[in-house]
Amino acid sequence: MSRDEDFLEASKLVLELTLAGSSGADLDDLLESLLRLLLQIPAFRFRSQGAILLLNPRGALVPVSFYGLPDFWEDEEVARALIASVPAHCDQPCVVPFVPPVGDMLGEQQRCLVLPMKTGKDVFGAVVLFLAPDWQPTENKLDFMVNLSMAVSGMVSRCVVNETLKVREIELEQARTEAIRRLGTASEYRDNETGMHVMRMTNFAMVIGKALGLNDDQREMLYITAPMHDVGKIGISDAILLKPGRLTDDEYEVMKTHTQIGERILRGNDTMIAAAREIAGAHHEHWDGSGYPQGLSGEAIPVLARICAIADVFDALTSARPYKEPWPVEQAVAWIRQESGRKFDPSVVAAFDRAMPEIMRIRALYRDDIIDPGQILDLPEADSQEGRWVKWDESLRVGIDIIDEHHRYLFELTNNLFDVVVQKRSSREVAKVLKSLDKYAQVHFRAEERMMEHFAYPRIEVQRSQHHQFEQKVDEFYQELHETPLTARFDVLTYLRQWLVSHIRNEDADLITLAKRPALS
Ligand SMILES: [Fe+2]
Ligand SMILES: [Fe+2]
Ligand SMILES: [Fe+2]
Repeated sequence: MSRDEDFLEASKLVLELTLAGSSGADLDDLLESLLRLLLQIPAFRFRSQGAILLLNPRGALVPVSFYGLPDFWEDEEVARALIASVPAHCDQPCVVPFVPPVGDMLGEQQRCLVLPMKTGKDVFGAVVLFLAPDWQPTENKLDFMVNLSMAVSGMVSRCVVNETLKVREIELEQARTEAIRRLGTASEYRDNETGMHVMRMTNFAMVIGKALGLNDDQREMLYITAPMHDVGKIGISDAILLKPGRLTDDEYEVMKTHTQIGERILRGNDTMIAAAREIAGAHHEHWDGSGYPQGLSGEAIPVLARICAIADVFDALTSARPYKEPWPVEQAVAWIRQESGRKFDPSVVAAFDRAMPEIMRIRALYRDDIIDPGQILDLPEADSQEGRWVKWDESLRVGIDIIDEHHRYLFELTNNLFDVVVQKRSSREVAKVLKSLDKYAQVHFRAEERMMEHFAYPRIEVQRSQHHQFEQKVDEFYQELHETPLTARFDVLTYLRQWLVSHIRNEDADLITLAKRPALS
Protein backbone atom coordinates (compact mmCIF):
# COMPACT_ATOMS: atom_id res chain seq x y z
CA MET A 1 0.00 0.00 0.00
CA SER A 2 1.35 3.43 -0.91
CA ARG A 3 1.78 6.28 1.52
CA ASP A 4 -1.09 8.13 -0.11
CA GLU A 5 -3.43 5.21 0.32
CA ASP A 6 -2.33 4.86 3.92
CA PHE A 7 -2.98 8.49 4.45
CA LEU A 8 -6.42 8.26 2.88
CA GLU A 9 -7.38 5.23 4.99
CA ALA A 10 -6.12 6.88 8.10
CA SER A 11 -7.98 10.13 7.47
CA LYS A 12 -11.15 8.17 6.90
CA LEU A 13 -10.54 6.45 10.22
CA VAL A 14 -10.15 9.67 12.14
CA LEU A 15 -13.23 11.10 10.50
CA GLU A 16 -15.33 8.04 11.28
CA LEU A 17 -14.09 8.02 14.82
CA THR A 18 -14.98 11.66 15.27
CA LEU A 19 -18.48 10.89 14.05
CA ALA A 20 -18.74 7.90 16.37
CA GLY A 21 -17.48 9.97 19.28
CA SER A 22 -19.81 12.90 18.75
CA SER A 23 -23.01 10.93 19.33
CA GLY A 24 -22.75 11.00 23.12
CA ALA A 25 -21.07 7.60 23.21
CA ASP A 26 -19.42 6.29 26.34
CA LEU A 27 -15.85 5.05 26.63
CA ASP A 28 -16.77 1.42 25.92
CA ASP A 29 -18.45 2.37 22.66
CA LEU A 30 -15.55 4.58 21.77
CA LEU A 31 -12.95 1.87 22.34
CA GLU A 32 -15.01 -0.62 20.41
CA SER A 33 -15.41 1.63 17.38
CA LEU A 34 -11.73 2.54 17.47
CA LEU A 35 -10.72 -1.12 17.33
CA ARG A 36 -13.34 -2.00 14.76
CA LEU A 37 -12.10 0.75 12.45
CA LEU A 38 -8.41 -0.02 12.98
CA LEU A 39 -8.98 -3.69 12.16
CA GLN A 40 -10.44 -2.71 8.81
CA ILE A 41 -7.23 -1.02 7.65
CA PRO A 42 -4.92 -3.56 5.99
CA ALA A 43 -1.81 -1.50 6.74
CA PHE A 44 -2.40 -1.87 10.48
CA ARG A 45 -2.35 -5.18 12.24
CA PHE A 46 -3.90 -5.10 15.67
CA ARG A 47 -5.55 -7.77 17.75
CA SER A 48 -9.08 -7.01 18.80
CA GLN A 49 -7.96 -6.27 22.31
CA GLY A 50 -7.50 -2.96 24.05
CA ALA A 51 -8.15 -0.82 27.09
CA ILE A 52 -8.53 2.79 28.14
CA LEU A 53 -6.68 3.92 31.27
CA LEU A 54 -7.17 7.27 32.99
CA LEU A 55 -4.94 8.95 35.55
CA ASN A 56 -6.55 9.43 38.96
CA PRO A 57 -5.83 12.54 41.07
CA ARG A 58 -2.98 10.66 42.77
CA GLY A 59 -1.25 10.13 39.42
CA ALA A 60 -1.97 6.40 39.14
CA LEU A 61 -3.48 4.83 36.03
CA VAL A 62 -6.94 3.35 36.46
CA PRO A 63 -8.44 1.03 33.82
CA VAL A 64 -11.88 2.36 32.93
CA SER A 65 -12.71 0.45 29.77
CA PHE A 66 -11.76 -2.90 28.24
CA TYR A 67 -12.30 -4.61 24.94
CA GLY A 68 -11.50 -8.25 24.22
CA LEU A 69 -9.82 -8.52 27.63
CA PRO A 70 -11.22 -9.60 30.97
CA ASP A 71 -12.69 -6.67 32.85
CA PHE A 72 -10.68 -5.53 35.88
CA TRP A 73 -13.30 -6.99 38.21
CA GLU A 74 -13.16 -10.35 36.47
CA ASP A 75 -9.41 -10.62 36.46
CA GLU A 76 -7.49 -8.06 38.45
CA GLU A 77 -4.15 -9.65 37.57
CA VAL A 78 -4.47 -8.88 33.87
CA ALA A 79 -5.52 -5.31 34.60
CA ARG A 80 -2.64 -4.83 36.99
CA ALA A 81 -0.22 -6.25 34.43
CA LEU A 82 -1.60 -3.80 31.91
CA ILE A 83 -1.16 -0.85 34.26
CA ALA A 84 2.40 -2.00 34.98
CA SER A 85 3.18 -2.20 31.25
CA VAL A 86 2.29 1.41 30.48
CA PRO A 87 5.19 3.81 31.12
CA ALA A 88 4.15 6.45 33.61
CA HIS A 89 5.12 9.54 31.66
CA CYS A 90 4.82 8.41 28.11
CA ASP A 91 3.70 11.38 26.05
CA GLN A 92 4.31 9.99 22.55
CA PRO A 93 2.80 6.87 20.97
CA CYS A 94 5.12 3.97 21.69
CA VAL A 95 5.25 0.20 21.54
CA VAL A 96 5.78 -1.58 24.88
CA PRO A 97 5.97 -5.22 25.93
CA PHE A 98 3.01 -6.54 27.86
CA VAL A 99 4.05 -9.15 30.38
CA PRO A 100 1.00 -11.20 31.29
CA PRO A 101 0.65 -12.49 34.84
CA VAL A 102 2.19 -15.91 35.35
CA GLY A 103 -0.04 -18.78 34.31
CA ASP A 104 -2.38 -16.42 32.54
CA MET A 105 -4.56 -17.43 29.63
CA LEU A 106 -3.04 -14.76 27.43
CA GLY A 107 0.09 -16.88 27.62
CA GLU A 108 3.06 -15.66 25.61
CA GLN A 109 4.54 -12.21 25.85
CA GLN A 110 2.77 -9.64 23.74
CA ARG A 111 3.29 -6.08 22.67
CA CYS A 112 0.98 -3.16 22.77
CA LEU A 113 0.78 0.26 21.29
CA VAL A 114 0.28 2.97 23.89
CA LEU A 115 -1.51 6.10 22.69
CA PRO A 116 -1.10 8.79 25.34
CA MET A 117 -4.10 11.03 25.85
CA LYS A 118 -3.42 14.68 26.44
CA THR A 119 -5.14 18.00 26.88
CA GLY A 120 -2.51 20.47 25.76
CA LYS A 121 0.69 19.16 27.26
CA ASP A 122 -0.92 17.35 30.17
CA VAL A 123 -1.26 13.60 29.90
CA PHE A 124 -4.54 12.38 31.42
CA GLY A 125 -4.48 8.76 30.37
CA ALA A 126 -3.70 6.25 27.64
CA VAL A 127 -5.34 3.97 25.13
CA VAL A 128 -3.61 0.60 24.96
CA LEU A 129 -4.01 -1.49 21.80
CA PHE A 130 -2.56 -4.99 21.39
CA LEU A 131 -0.43 -5.59 18.28
CA ALA A 132 -0.56 -8.70 16.08
CA PRO A 133 2.45 -10.93 17.01
CA ASP A 134 4.58 -10.26 13.92
CA TRP A 135 3.77 -6.64 13.27
CA GLN A 136 6.01 -3.69 14.13
CA PRO A 137 4.60 -0.30 13.12
CA THR A 138 7.06 1.74 11.00
CA GLU A 139 8.12 5.31 11.87
CA ASN A 140 5.64 6.45 9.33
CA LYS A 141 2.76 4.66 10.98
CA LEU A 142 3.81 5.90 14.40
CA ASP A 143 3.64 9.43 12.97
CA PHE A 144 0.09 8.78 12.02
CA MET A 145 -0.54 7.47 15.53
CA VAL A 146 0.36 10.90 16.90
CA ASN A 147 -2.62 12.31 15.02
CA LEU A 148 -4.81 9.41 16.01
CA SER A 149 -3.75 9.92 19.60
CA MET A 150 -4.82 13.55 19.42
CA ALA A 151 -8.18 12.70 17.88
CA VAL A 152 -8.85 10.05 20.49
CA SER A 153 -7.75 12.39 23.31
CA GLY A 154 -10.41 14.85 22.22
CA MET A 155 -13.11 12.23 22.22
CA VAL A 156 -12.15 10.63 25.49
CA SER A 157 -11.92 13.95 27.25
CA ARG A 158 -15.36 14.86 25.89
CA CYS A 159 -16.71 11.65 27.43
CA VAL A 160 -15.07 12.52 30.74
CA VAL A 161 -16.43 16.06 30.67
CA ASN A 162 -19.91 14.76 29.86
CA GLU A 163 -19.81 12.44 32.81
CA THR A 164 -18.59 15.23 35.06
CA LEU A 165 -21.42 17.50 33.90
CA LYS A 166 -23.96 14.81 34.68
CA VAL A 167 -22.55 14.60 38.18
CA ARG A 168 -22.82 18.38 38.62
CA GLU A 169 -26.55 18.13 37.99
CA ILE A 170 -26.82 15.42 40.61
CA GLU A 171 -24.89 17.58 43.02
CA LEU A 172 -27.55 20.27 42.87
CA GLU A 173 -30.29 17.74 43.38
CA GLN A 174 -28.44 16.19 46.28
CA ALA A 175 -27.79 19.50 47.95
CA ARG A 176 -31.53 19.95 48.02
CA THR A 177 -32.42 16.51 49.41
CA GLU A 178 -29.59 16.73 51.90
CA ALA A 179 -30.92 20.03 53.20
CA ILE A 180 -34.35 18.45 53.61
CA ARG A 181 -32.93 15.44 55.42
CA ARG A 182 -30.84 17.52 57.76
CA LEU A 183 -33.80 19.57 58.78
CA GLY A 184 -35.54 16.32 59.74
CA THR A 185 -32.58 15.03 61.67
CA ALA A 186 -32.08 18.36 63.44
CA SER A 187 -35.57 18.17 64.88
CA GLU A 188 -34.88 14.69 66.24
CA TYR A 189 -31.73 15.64 68.08
CA ARG A 190 -33.73 17.64 70.57
CA ASP A 191 -35.39 14.62 72.13
CA ASN A 192 -33.25 11.80 70.81
CA GLU A 193 -29.55 12.17 71.38
CA THR A 194 -28.21 9.74 68.80
CA GLY A 195 -30.72 10.49 66.07
CA MET A 196 -31.13 6.76 65.79
CA HIS A 197 -34.91 6.83 66.11
CA VAL A 198 -35.24 8.69 62.85
CA MET A 199 -32.85 6.29 61.08
CA ARG A 200 -34.64 3.20 62.35
CA MET A 201 -38.03 4.65 61.61
CA THR A 202 -36.99 5.60 58.07
CA ASN A 203 -35.56 2.16 57.40
CA PHE A 204 -38.67 0.47 58.84
CA ALA A 205 -40.79 2.63 56.57
CA MET A 206 -38.64 1.64 53.59
CA VAL A 207 -39.02 -2.11 54.13
CA ILE A 208 -42.74 -1.78 54.85
CA GLY A 209 -43.05 0.27 51.65
CA LYS A 210 -41.23 -2.44 49.77
CA ALA A 211 -43.49 -5.16 51.17
CA LEU A 212 -46.46 -3.02 50.20
CA GLY A 213 -45.19 -2.86 46.61
CA LEU A 214 -44.25 0.83 46.35
CA ASN A 215 -42.20 1.54 43.24
CA ASP A 216 -38.61 2.79 43.32
CA ASP A 217 -39.56 6.44 42.94
CA GLN A 218 -42.08 6.31 45.75
CA ARG A 219 -39.59 4.56 47.98
CA GLU A 220 -36.90 7.09 47.26
CA MET A 221 -39.39 9.81 48.10
CA LEU A 222 -40.17 8.00 51.35
CA TYR A 223 -36.49 7.67 52.19
CA ILE A 224 -35.93 11.39 51.87
CA THR A 225 -39.15 12.60 53.45
CA ALA A 226 -39.83 10.13 56.29
CA PRO A 227 -37.15 11.71 58.52
CA MET A 228 -39.23 14.89 58.39
CA HIS A 229 -42.30 13.45 60.04
CA ASP A 230 -41.71 15.21 63.37
CA VAL A 231 -40.06 18.36 62.07
CA GLY A 232 -42.85 20.37 63.72
CA LYS A 233 -41.46 19.42 67.14
CA ILE A 234 -39.05 22.29 66.57
CA GLY A 235 -41.95 24.50 67.58
CA ILE A 236 -42.80 22.66 70.82
CA SER A 237 -41.28 24.01 74.05
CA ASP A 238 -38.69 21.98 75.93
CA ALA A 239 -40.95 21.94 79.00
CA ILE A 240 -43.41 19.80 77.07
CA LEU A 241 -41.15 17.99 74.60
CA LEU A 242 -38.62 16.85 77.19
CA LYS A 243 -41.00 16.37 80.12
CA PRO A 244 -39.98 13.20 81.90
CA GLY A 245 -43.50 12.19 82.97
CA ARG A 246 -46.86 11.84 81.24
CA LEU A 247 -48.29 14.97 79.63
CA THR A 248 -51.39 16.63 81.05
CA ASP A 249 -54.38 16.96 78.70
CA ASP A 250 -53.49 20.56 77.94
CA GLU A 251 -49.87 19.73 77.30
CA TYR A 252 -50.93 16.90 75.02
CA GLU A 253 -53.07 19.32 73.01
CA VAL A 254 -49.98 21.49 72.52
CA MET A 255 -47.89 18.48 71.58
CA LYS A 256 -50.43 17.54 68.89
CA THR A 257 -49.81 20.82 67.13
CA HIS A 258 -46.42 19.53 65.94
CA THR A 259 -48.28 18.13 62.93
CA GLN A 260 -49.63 21.53 61.87
CA ILE A 261 -46.36 23.29 62.69
CA GLY A 262 -44.63 20.73 60.44
CA GLU A 263 -47.04 21.48 57.62
CA ARG A 264 -46.31 25.16 57.97
CA ILE A 265 -42.56 24.66 57.98
CA LEU A 266 -42.82 22.57 54.83
CA ARG A 267 -44.65 25.06 52.66
CA GLY A 268 -43.86 25.16 48.95
CA ASN A 269 -44.54 23.58 45.58
CA ASP A 270 -41.51 21.36 45.33
CA THR A 271 -42.73 17.73 44.96
CA MET A 272 -40.33 16.51 47.60
CA ILE A 273 -41.35 19.18 50.10
CA ALA A 274 -45.01 18.47 49.31
CA ALA A 275 -44.55 14.77 50.12
CA ALA A 276 -42.73 15.65 53.33
CA ARG A 277 -45.57 18.00 54.23
CA GLU A 278 -48.14 15.25 53.79
CA ILE A 279 -46.22 12.95 56.10
CA ALA A 280 -45.63 15.63 58.73
CA GLY A 281 -49.28 16.60 58.65
CA ALA A 282 -50.89 13.16 58.57
CA HIS A 283 -48.70 10.68 60.43
CA HIS A 284 -51.00 10.82 63.48
CA GLU A 285 -54.23 10.36 61.51
CA HIS A 286 -56.03 7.05 62.09
CA TRP A 287 -57.56 4.71 59.51
CA ASP A 288 -60.94 4.94 61.31
CA GLY A 289 -60.88 8.74 61.46
CA SER A 290 -60.08 9.01 65.19
CA GLY A 291 -56.64 10.61 64.77
CA TYR A 292 -55.41 14.21 64.54
CA PRO A 293 -55.13 16.95 63.39
CA GLN A 294 -57.89 16.64 60.76
CA GLY A 295 -59.58 13.35 61.60
CA LEU A 296 -58.95 12.05 58.09
CA SER A 297 -59.85 8.42 57.49
CA GLY A 298 -59.02 5.54 55.11
CA GLU A 299 -57.35 6.39 51.85
CA ALA A 300 -57.85 10.09 52.41
CA ILE A 301 -54.69 9.72 54.50
CA PRO A 302 -51.70 9.82 52.13
CA VAL A 303 -50.16 6.36 51.80
CA LEU A 304 -46.66 7.48 52.83
CA ALA A 305 -48.13 8.89 56.03
CA ARG A 306 -49.96 5.59 56.71
CA ILE A 307 -46.64 3.77 56.37
CA CYS A 308 -44.77 6.24 58.57
CA ALA A 309 -47.46 5.98 61.24
CA ILE A 310 -46.69 2.29 61.82
CA ALA A 311 -42.92 2.68 61.47
CA ASP A 312 -42.94 5.55 63.97
CA VAL A 313 -45.20 3.90 66.53
CA PHE A 314 -43.36 0.57 66.37
CA ASP A 315 -40.07 2.25 67.12
CA ALA A 316 -41.53 4.46 69.84
CA LEU A 317 -43.11 1.45 71.58
CA THR A 318 -39.97 -0.68 71.47
CA SER A 319 -37.62 2.14 72.59
CA ALA A 320 -37.05 3.48 76.07
CA ARG A 321 -38.41 6.99 76.68
CA PRO A 322 -37.92 9.17 79.76
CA TYR A 323 -41.36 8.12 81.00
CA LYS A 324 -41.47 4.46 79.97
CA GLU A 325 -39.58 1.20 79.60
CA PRO A 326 -39.35 -0.27 76.10
CA TRP A 327 -42.04 -2.81 75.21
CA PRO A 328 -40.91 -6.27 74.15
CA VAL A 329 -41.10 -6.64 70.36
CA GLU A 330 -43.81 -9.33 70.49
CA GLN A 331 -46.03 -7.09 72.57
CA ALA A 332 -45.57 -4.14 70.19
CA VAL A 333 -46.30 -6.32 67.16
CA ALA A 334 -49.42 -7.73 68.81
CA TRP A 335 -50.64 -4.25 69.61
CA ILE A 336 -50.12 -3.03 66.04
CA ARG A 337 -52.03 -6.05 64.69
CA GLN A 338 -54.80 -5.36 67.13
CA GLU A 339 -55.07 -1.79 65.87
CA SER A 340 -55.32 -2.91 62.25
CA GLY A 341 -58.44 -1.29 60.78
CA ARG A 342 -58.64 1.10 63.75
CA LYS A 343 -55.50 3.17 64.03
CA PHE A 344 -53.74 1.59 61.08
CA ASP A 345 -54.44 0.69 57.46
CA PRO A 346 -54.91 -3.13 57.38
CA SER A 347 -52.89 -3.49 54.16
CA VAL A 348 -49.97 -1.60 55.71
CA VAL A 349 -50.19 -3.77 58.85
CA ALA A 350 -50.03 -6.84 56.61
CA ALA A 351 -46.96 -5.40 54.85
CA PHE A 352 -45.42 -4.69 58.27
CA ASP A 353 -45.93 -8.37 59.16
CA ARG A 354 -44.30 -9.52 55.94
CA ALA A 355 -41.36 -7.19 56.51
CA MET A 356 -40.77 -8.45 60.06
CA PRO A 357 -37.46 -10.29 59.37
CA GLU A 358 -35.99 -7.12 57.84
CA ILE A 359 -37.41 -5.01 60.63
CA MET A 360 -35.67 -7.19 63.20
CA ARG A 361 -32.42 -6.80 61.34
CA ILE A 362 -32.75 -3.01 61.23
CA ARG A 363 -33.27 -3.04 65.00
CA ALA A 364 -30.02 -4.90 65.44
CA LEU A 365 -28.15 -2.63 63.05
CA TYR A 366 -29.39 0.76 64.27
CA ARG A 367 -29.36 0.62 68.03
CA ASP A 368 -28.75 3.40 70.49
CA ASP A 369 -28.02 1.26 73.53
CA ILE A 370 -24.53 -0.01 74.27
CA ILE A 371 -23.70 -3.21 72.45
CA ASP A 372 -23.68 -6.15 74.80
CA PRO A 373 -20.76 -8.33 73.68
CA GLY A 374 -22.47 -11.40 75.15
CA GLN A 375 -25.80 -10.96 73.38
CA ILE A 376 -26.78 -13.75 71.02
CA LEU A 377 -28.74 -12.59 68.00
CA ASP A 378 -31.36 -14.76 66.46
CA LEU A 379 -31.61 -13.32 63.00
CA PRO A 380 -32.67 -15.08 59.80
CA GLU A 381 -29.81 -16.62 57.85
CA ALA A 382 -28.06 -14.20 55.54
CA ASP A 383 -28.42 -14.51 51.78
CA SER A 384 -25.86 -16.66 50.07
CA GLN A 385 -22.57 -14.91 49.40
CA GLU A 386 -22.20 -16.86 46.18
CA GLY A 387 -20.87 -14.67 43.41
CA ARG A 388 -20.54 -11.63 45.62
CA TRP A 389 -17.50 -9.46 45.24
CA VAL A 390 -16.41 -9.17 48.83
CA LYS A 391 -17.28 -12.46 50.37
CA TRP A 392 -18.26 -12.73 53.98
CA ASP A 393 -16.92 -15.85 55.55
CA GLU A 394 -16.71 -17.29 59.01
CA SER A 395 -13.05 -16.32 59.36
CA LEU A 396 -14.19 -12.67 59.48
CA ARG A 397 -16.36 -13.28 62.50
CA VAL A 398 -15.27 -11.29 65.55
CA GLY A 399 -17.43 -13.44 67.82
CA ILE A 400 -19.73 -10.65 69.02
CA ASP A 401 -23.04 -11.26 67.26
CA ILE A 402 -24.12 -7.66 66.90
CA ILE A 403 -20.73 -6.51 65.61
CA ASP A 404 -20.66 -9.41 63.16
CA GLU A 405 -24.09 -8.45 61.90
CA HIS A 406 -22.91 -4.84 61.44
CA HIS A 407 -19.86 -6.01 59.49
CA ARG A 408 -21.90 -8.32 57.34
CA TYR A 409 -24.16 -5.43 56.48
CA LEU A 410 -21.15 -3.27 55.55
CA PHE A 411 -20.06 -6.03 53.20
CA GLU A 412 -23.51 -6.09 51.69
CA LEU A 413 -23.42 -2.34 51.10
CA THR A 414 -19.96 -2.66 49.53
CA ASN A 415 -21.30 -5.33 47.21
CA ASN A 416 -24.21 -3.07 46.29
CA LEU A 417 -21.69 -0.42 45.35
CA PHE A 418 -19.76 -2.98 43.34
CA ASP A 419 -22.93 -3.90 41.45
CA VAL A 420 -23.70 -0.34 40.40
CA VAL A 421 -20.09 0.21 39.33
CA VAL A 422 -19.80 -3.00 37.31
CA GLN A 423 -23.13 -2.45 35.65
CA LYS A 424 -21.74 0.96 34.70
CA ARG A 425 -24.75 2.65 36.20
CA SER A 426 -24.88 6.43 36.33
CA SER A 427 -22.67 8.38 38.67
CA ARG A 428 -25.86 9.49 40.37
CA GLU A 429 -26.49 5.96 41.43
CA VAL A 430 -22.88 5.41 42.46
CA ALA A 431 -22.98 8.53 44.64
CA LYS A 432 -26.24 7.42 46.23
CA VAL A 433 -24.99 3.96 47.13
CA LEU A 434 -21.70 5.34 48.44
CA LYS A 435 -23.64 7.78 50.61
CA SER A 436 -25.69 5.03 52.23
CA LEU A 437 -22.56 3.01 52.87
CA ASP A 438 -20.89 6.02 54.42
CA LYS A 439 -23.90 6.73 56.62
CA TYR A 440 -24.01 3.19 57.87
CA ALA A 441 -20.27 3.00 58.47
CA GLN A 442 -20.67 6.00 60.76
CA VAL A 443 -23.51 4.38 62.66
CA HIS A 444 -21.41 1.26 63.08
CA PHE A 445 -18.25 3.07 64.17
CA ARG A 446 -20.09 5.11 66.79
CA ALA A 447 -21.77 1.98 68.16
CA GLU A 448 -18.46 0.15 68.29
CA GLU A 449 -16.78 3.12 70.00
CA ARG A 450 -19.57 3.46 72.58
CA MET A 451 -19.11 -0.19 73.44
CA MET A 452 -15.32 0.19 73.71
CA GLU A 453 -15.68 3.24 75.87
CA HIS A 454 -18.13 1.53 78.18
CA PHE A 455 -15.82 -1.43 78.72
CA ALA A 456 -12.63 0.68 78.84
CA TYR A 457 -11.20 -1.19 75.87
CA PRO A 458 -7.43 -0.53 75.73
CA ARG A 459 -7.12 -0.04 71.95
CA ILE A 460 -9.98 2.40 71.64
CA GLU A 461 -7.77 5.24 70.40
CA VAL A 462 -6.30 3.12 67.61
CA GLN A 463 -9.82 2.12 66.61
CA ARG A 464 -11.05 5.71 66.73
CA SER A 465 -8.27 6.97 64.55
CA GLN A 466 -8.68 4.19 61.98
CA HIS A 467 -12.42 4.81 61.84
CA HIS A 468 -11.75 8.50 61.42
CA GLN A 469 -9.28 7.91 58.60
CA PHE A 470 -11.83 5.79 56.85
CA GLU A 471 -14.51 8.46 57.13
CA GLN A 472 -12.13 11.09 55.77
CA LYS A 473 -11.13 8.89 52.89
CA VAL A 474 -14.73 8.20 51.94
CA ASP A 475 -15.40 11.94 52.06
CA GLU A 476 -12.50 12.46 49.68
CA PHE A 477 -13.85 9.83 47.31
CA TYR A 478 -17.23 11.43 47.44
CA GLN A 479 -15.62 14.68 46.31
CA GLU A 480 -13.67 12.84 43.65
CA LEU A 481 -16.81 11.23 42.40
CA HIS A 482 -17.87 14.73 41.45
CA GLU A 483 -14.59 15.85 39.97
CA THR A 484 -13.22 12.69 38.33
CA PRO A 485 -16.20 10.33 38.31
CA LEU A 486 -14.72 7.65 36.09
CA THR A 487 -11.63 6.88 38.13
CA ALA A 488 -13.16 7.55 41.56
CA ARG A 489 -15.73 4.78 41.33
CA PHE A 490 -12.94 2.36 40.68
CA ASP A 491 -10.64 3.64 43.42
CA VAL A 492 -13.33 3.75 46.07
CA LEU A 493 -14.18 0.08 45.61
CA THR A 494 -10.64 -1.19 45.86
CA TYR A 495 -10.07 0.98 48.92
CA LEU A 496 -13.24 -0.20 50.64
CA ARG A 497 -12.56 -3.86 50.23
CA GLN A 498 -9.00 -3.57 51.39
CA TRP A 499 -9.85 -1.39 54.40
CA LEU A 500 -12.81 -3.39 55.61
CA VAL A 501 -11.14 -6.75 55.45
CA SER A 502 -7.92 -5.57 57.06
CA HIS A 503 -9.59 -3.48 59.78
CA ILE A 504 -11.89 -6.34 60.74
CA ARG A 505 -9.11 -8.90 60.76
CA ASN A 506 -6.48 -6.77 62.48
CA GLU A 507 -8.42 -4.52 64.85
CA ASP A 508 -12.02 -5.61 65.33
CA ALA A 509 -11.02 -9.26 65.77
CA ASP A 510 -9.52 -8.22 69.09
CA LEU A 511 -12.90 -7.01 70.38
CA ILE A 512 -13.70 -10.60 71.30
CA THR A 513 -11.74 -10.01 74.52
CA LEU A 514 -14.73 -7.90 75.64
CA ALA A 515 -17.10 -10.84 75.33
CA LYS A 516 -15.16 -12.63 78.02
CA ARG A 517 -15.91 -9.93 80.58
CA PRO A 518 -18.96 -9.98 82.83
CA ALA A 519 -22.17 -9.18 80.98
CA LEU A 520 -23.72 -5.71 81.10
CA SER A 521 -25.92 -5.15 84.07
FE1 LIG B 1 -45.23 12.81 65.45
FE1 LIG C 1 -16.09 -2.71 62.93
FE1 LIG D 1 -13.57 -0.95 64.27
